[in-house]
Amino acid sequence: MHYMKWIAGAIAGASMMVAATAASALTVGFAQTGHESDWRTAFSASMQSAAKAAGIDMKFSDADQKPENQVKAVHAFIAQRVDAIIIAPIVETGWDEVLKEAKDAKIPVFIVDRDVKVADRSPIVARIAADFHLEGKLAGAWLAQASQLGPWQAKHGSECNIVELQGTVGSSPAILRKKGFEDVMALFPYMHIVKSQSGDFTTTGGKEVMESFIKATDGLKGICAVWSHNDNMQLGAIQAMKEAGLHPGTDFLMVSVDGVPDEFKAMVAGEANASVELRSGIGPEIFAVIKGYLGGKHDYPKWVKIASTLHTQADAQHMIDWWAAQKKGG
Ligand code: AHR
Repeated sequence: MHYMKWIAGAIAGASMMVAATAASALTVGFAQTGHESDWRTAFSASMQSAAKAAGIDMKFSDADQKPENQVKAVHAFIAQRVDAIIIAPIVETGWDEVLKEAKDAKIPVFIVDRDVKVADRSPIVARIAADFHLEGKLAGAWLAQASQLGPWQAKHGSECNIVELQGTVGSSPAILRKKGFEDVMALFPYMHIVKSQSGDFTTTGGKEVMESFIKATDGLKGICAVWSHNDNMQLGAIQAMKEAGLHPGTDFLMVSVDGVPDEFKAMVAGEANASVELRSGIGPEIFAVIKGYLGGKHDYPKWVKIASTLHTQADAQHMIDWWAAQKKGG
């Protein structure tokens, strides 16, 4: 009997411990932009698996590229009293009120990827993100050189007329990649952007915009390069060019940002030339900062920078192999 009592007590104690552990597990809310690109999907997957590995309960909201959905999701996370809020903002503006609300509720906010423009940044512990301005500069610097190589000069002369596919209007990568690219262009007077339009970071958007560029320029006459703020729009542009009987990668230099597998495949096929890699597997870095902060480490820099690197046809196959190894967990 005494023995039975001891077992019952042990079971009760163990279940109390489980309840206590569950109660003390961290809960964070992640207000994600949407699923507009291959990069975004890979980033969401990295966040999901990093949250799991960190033992954090992550509430995930996909705003489908609609800023109002995203603000609503953050309001809901505040009402649920999560331990921290992560926002990957669609656009830079419209955040003042809800961030103040998070601050009043004493919920720390972490900005990932894109940035916000707010009067008071004090609710934000840190932003963990790449340098979009640098990405634009890397793309511009590559094009400044590539367009002056013999074969391209023979095709287009020394002037390089560029068509630009912009990302979502009002988003920090669209603003800063454009600015970085133009800052490099200012150093090389032979580079000119002759057409520029938003394709909203999607394959369909990039295809539609390119179709209109092709029409407006009588088959891209006088154009030497296509600069796209992300790979998916570039992949859409490639489709439109091929359908119009044009030869991207051979007759037009194609440079973009993200470094997703399909873009590397396009490079291997000779239809794209360069892409600046925006790392998508940054979930572990993000959760290391959040866990550290919630555990008492409060001296993180306001901007935890993620490096970006440029890839070309020279290492495209290597990058395809690298992605395949990641998928296998290698
Ligand atoms: O904010 C980063 C950008 O958003 C990526 O370059 C693009 O693919 C995504 O949609």
